[in-house]
Parts: sequence; structure tokens; C-alpha cells
Amino acid sequence: MSEAGPETIPPEYRARLAELEGAIAGARDWATALAETVRRLRDAFGKYNWVGIYWVIRHQLVLVAWDGPEPTEHVRIPIGVGICGLAAETGDTVVVPDVSKDPRYLACFPYTRSEIVVPIKRDGRVLGEIDIDSNLLDPFGPEDQTFLEAVAALLAGKYPGD
Ligand code: SME
Repeated sequence: MSEAGPETIPPEYRARLAELEGAIAGARDWATALAETVRRLRDAFGKYNWVGIYWVIRHQLVLVAWDGPEPTEHVRIPIGVGICGLAAETGDTVVVPDVSKDPRYLACFPYTRSEIVVPIKRDGRVLGEIDIDSNLLDPFGPEDQTFLEAVAALLAGKYPGD
């Protein structure tokens, strides 16, 4: 990923980011911040079909908030397993443009074609991650990565600590 900052993303992404910044800063507690984030992200762009936030709890990723048409069976994922586990292990954003071509992908929904997973980090440590599934093939560009990494940074800043 380039060094592009949020100021380089398209206006509609900047607008959504500003709204999320206000909602996260103004959330009365951490649970509200998580719930607001998944709801607003799913509403932000039609290609964000399922949005979840996983948190690292005792070396596992635990689903702590989600918004989408249906629940996932993957409510706990070991670090290192699946695309989610890969992003948590490496601390880097993972974009899978076509999940049918990635053997690491853990299937959740039959209609998912692509996925992006963005770690939420503080001081280099992965606290959790944002996971977005899309029903479209290859819909995630650099602007999605930059936008979602900025949202992850907002959540890391809001997190009250263990
Ligand atoms: N597809 C993910 C699992 C989580 S579901 O998308 C909600 C993965 O491969 O880790």
C-alpha cells in the first residue's frame, strides 16, 4: 500500500470518514462505538455487504460486532486461520479480490465473492480487525484500504484498553 493518507481518498470516502470520526468520538461507550462503526460502514457503500469487527481475545479472534443480512458461523477464529487469521498474524491489510481463488479463505456466505480484512493496531500490536465481505468480484481499491485503515485507527484510538 502506498503512503497515501486519508486526504487523498475520493470525496465520498472523505465524507463517510468524517461521519465515522464523529460517531466514534461521540459514542458513549466502546460497545456503541463498535455497533455504530459496523452499521455505518455497511451503509456507506453498497459493495460492503457484510461488515464485522473481530477482537483478539486469548489468542483467538472473537466476533464482537457485525452488520449484514445474516450471522456468520465463524464467531471465533484462531490467529493464523483464514483470511482473518492471516491479517491478525501479519498485522497487514489483506485484500482477496476473488475468494474462489484463495485456498486460505474460510467460507461464510455462498454469495461472497471478495473480502478485505484490516487490522486494528495500537503500538504495533493487533487489537482486532475490520472484516468486510462483498458480493462483487474485485471491488476493493486502494481508496477502500486507505479509508478502512483510517477507520481502524479511529477505533484503536477509542479503545479503552484491556
Ligand atoms: N472469510 C473469513 C471468515 C470470516 S467471514 O467472512 C465472516 C476468513 O477467511 O477468515
